[in-house]
Amino acid sequence: MTAEIDSLVVAPAPVQDHVWWRRIDRRTPVRPGIRMPWVDGAASSAAVPDPMVAHEFAIECVAVTPETPGITSFTFRRRDGVALGFRPGQYLNVAFPVDPDGGLRERNYSLSSSPVDPSAFRLTIQREDTGAVSRWAHEHVRPGTALEALGPLGGFHLPDVDRRARYLLLAGGVGITPLISMARTLHALDGTADVVVLYHASTPRDFAFARELRILDETDPRFTVGFSLGDRPSPEWRGLTGRISAESLDALVPDACGRRVYACGPAGYLERTAAAVEAVGVSPLAFFTECFDDTAPEPRTEQSQAAEPQTTQRPVTTGPGAVSSATAAAAPADAPTASALPAPAPSAPPRTPAPVRDVADTRHWVTFARTGTSAPVETADSLLQAGRRAGVPLRSNCSSGMCGTCKVGLLAGEVTMDHSGGIRRREIDAGTILLCCSTPEGDVVVDA
Ligand code: FES
Repeated sequence: MTAEIDSLVVAPAPVQDHVWWRRIDRRTPVRPGIRMPWVDGAASSAAVPDPMVAHEFAIECVAVTPETPGITSFTFRRRDGVALGFRPGQYLNVAFPVDPDGGLRERNYSLSSSPVDPSAFRLTIQREDTGAVSRWAHEHVRPGTALEALGPLGGFHLPDVDRRARYLLLAGGVGITPLISMARTLHALDGTADVVVLYHASTPRDFAFARELRILDETDPRFTVGFSLGDRPSPEWRGLTGRISAESLDALVPDACGRRVYACGPAGYLERTAAAVEAVGVSPLAFFTECFDDTAPEPRTEQSQAAEPQTTQRPVTTGPGAVSSATAAAAPADAPTASALPAPAPSAPPRTPAPVRDVADTRHWVTFARTGTSAPVETADSLLQAGRRAGVPLRSNCSSGMCGTCKVGLLAGEVTMDHSGGIRRREIDAGTILLCCSTPEGDVVVDA
């Protein structure tokens, strides 16, 4: 930052010049913050494709890289040879043939590589002892393994253009995966930036990408990286300790309130982070979170009916980031807002008395079979909005039919679904819908 300011050449002011900016010698270009390569039409190319709306494609593993004893990165390429366009922080939905009968189970995994090098991309997966899919991935995905993918998905990502580019990236455990994509991208891009990474893990061996982050810290003057061991002391550890708090943020990042803050990790970590970030004065409009949630009920689809313990790596985005991308314009009023932070799904609005249907009521009603709640759907409302209004805890993310988070089975009735790529063709054929972009054609029953 200092070098950038020093590079401005200030010419002597003409006596009659009352326009301050004319005094800056424009021969010295001022490089503005960051600008993603796909923003300028000329720069956008097959090498750095524009991140498009989500779509389906086949992927093939080309390399497996252990990151820590429990975390592994899998490098993939698209089988059709097309480069993958995505924004740093987004994720893919991948179908894994876990079941012996070939049944598929879908999971969302963050892209940990940078879209600036899109010929191949990485998914970084933490092995969960109770998670069949993550275990399967660690044991079976090898170079040559082919899988189905849907994406890119998610609203937790860096902006395409940011003139200030001052960031605080807060990671808890495997929550580092979307943030390392952001860090790699910022490092690869030219331009001014000021990036602080604060990474909490349980043991010294649990810091994924530690060597790379240290190199960033030492070689890129735009980066400052801190590792903290939380509240579990270790005799071999010489670095920071202690959970994230307002005091630690004030001490380590005193200018946190002037930065865009991206936080990712498990729900407990995000709760503490939200409290700390609020206490040091970060604007809710500058705070973006993604929860690797281990408590939310998983949306059931034809492919995932079999019970499985929850994976901890299913991104759920809250905060302005969920609506700050190009998809924001389409987001209806019920899109998650920063005021709900921390708000890992399922969203659980205060329980309201169940609405009672009047015999003269001509509105269509939706019944949520698992909770036994029925609710009217107002004109122009989606099923998601109707359910929220009735106090039904429902998972959502983009609220615009892109991410697939609100996927449920349609048990009875018909809907009109206006999605934006967040659901596969075969899922629609199997009777799965996206609540956020579905309106009923009559009374309907959904598996939620
Ligand atoms: S919330 Fe993203 S598709 Fe419905």
